[in-house]
Amino acid sequence: SSGVGRLSDGALAVGGVDVRDLAAEHGTPAYVLDEADFRMRARAYRTAFEAAFGAVGAGVDVYYAGKALLTVAVARWAREEGLRVDTASGGELAIALRAEVPGAEIGLHGNNKSDGEILRALDAGVGRIIVDSLVEIERVARLAAERGLVAPVMVRVTTGVHAGGHEYIATAHEDQKFGLSVNPVGGPDQRGESPAMVALLEVLKHPELKLLGIHSHIGSQILDPDGFEAAARVVLRLRADLAERSGVLVGEVDLGGGYGIAYLPGDVALDPERVAKDIAQSVAGVCRELGTSLPRFSIEPGRAIVGPAGLTLYTVGTVKAVTVSADGGADFTRTYVSVDGGMSDNIRPALYGAAYHAEVVGRSSAAETVLARVVGKHCESGDIVVHEVQLPADVRAGDLLAVAATGAYGRSMASNYNMLPRPPVVAVSDGVSRVLVRRETEDDLLGLDQG
Ligand code: LLP
Repeated sequence: SSGVGRLSDGALAVGGVDVRDLAAEHGTPAYVLDEADFRMRARAYRTAFEAAFGAVGAGVDVYYAGKALLTVAVARWAREEGLRVDTASGGELAIALRAEVPGAEIGLHGNNKSDGEILRALDAGVGRIIVDSLVEIERVARLAAERGLVAPVMVRVTTGVHAGGHEYIATAHEDQKFGLSVNPVGGPDQRGESPAMVALLEVLKHPELKLLGIHSHIGSQILDPDGFEAAARVVLRLRADLAERSGVLVGEVDLGGGYGIAYLPGDVALDPERVAKDIAQSVAGVCRELGTSLPRFSIEPGRAIVGPAGLTLYTVGTVKAVTVSADGGADFTRTYVSVDGGMSDNIRPALYGAAYHAEVVGRSSAAETVLARVVGKHCESGDIVVHEVQLPADVRAGDLLAVAATGAYGRSMASNYNMLPRPPVVAVSDGVSRVLVRRETEDDLLGLDQG
């Protein structure tokens, strides 16, 4: 019994567990994670990419991007489904290691890794450190020398391909902090070399570094697969150029994450099988044109694995009808439905204008629907969970409300704004619930305050 469905009395069940039981046992707000759904998506991405890339004669590894949501259990699930784990900080690395993910199956990202994070990664024997700048190349080389190790690195490049939902999560354009551009730097006293090429050649000069390959991540919540193909073409050309310059044809290319999901009813997610096939055929064609052998590929989906597997369960408190006087038009009424969480457990609507869907899930209702806005309990008017949704007119205090598709970047971006304890992560599977991360308590928060 996995998935989400309504019981005969109209209440929702997730992973075979009645949401009323979840609320009674774990309280609200709570992040509820459907383990079977997570595993199914992890497997779907791995098998789709293995099949499509295998068909053109290339190998592929799938890294689960832990920034979307990483707990020890989640890291274990990813590994059990044949995925590796991509981390973006010492903290994420610590979780992957506690889950006993072998170092060789972990990647470390970040545009500003500390010496401590790099050393921890080296000591854990991580499979790859993705370097993001020239200074970092020097830093990793120095620390590897200190340890008497050879650090396996990939160079993160920016391809100029724009993709993804929001300016803050689009990363392949020039004017942002990530990666090294493939475009030659102009100007009278420049050599016309691209920062990406400079970095790759620099890595090759260091005996303490092993250049595994080239990394590109073009953005997030991407719904058009063309961007991946365009970026892959640029990266493969850079790889061929590097081979011409240095005689070294690097063996690996990572195409990043960013695979888009459905947030609202009617949204269409990227289909892993289709996108894998499109990318595989395209990269095979490019390598043929360039006359280079195929590298081993990797991808780093986060949202596409964990996003749809999670929902947030809230309890409704205050319900308030607000009459809005529209300029020149008729007044209308919007029902403000306040829940017991808000922007501290889901910052995405406030940060990106992200849209979500909500439903009353503890009961059925025969009432007409009204235009509602789901808001949190924080002290600002931008504390909106769902901007616009039809809810039953009899929605009232005590109702359970679920917001769908909050598995990615909900808990992982949560805060304690207004001293709210962060909600627990509760896994459901086969009719059983289990706490993966417990709810914070007021004592947790007060304990940090040294007076
Ligand atoms: N790989 C790299 C290098 C990344 O920077 C990211 C996301 C991923 C993989 C995973 O991307 P995904 O498959 O989850 O789209 N907080 C934003 C998303 C930021 C993504 C940052 N990097 C949000 O809530 O939409």
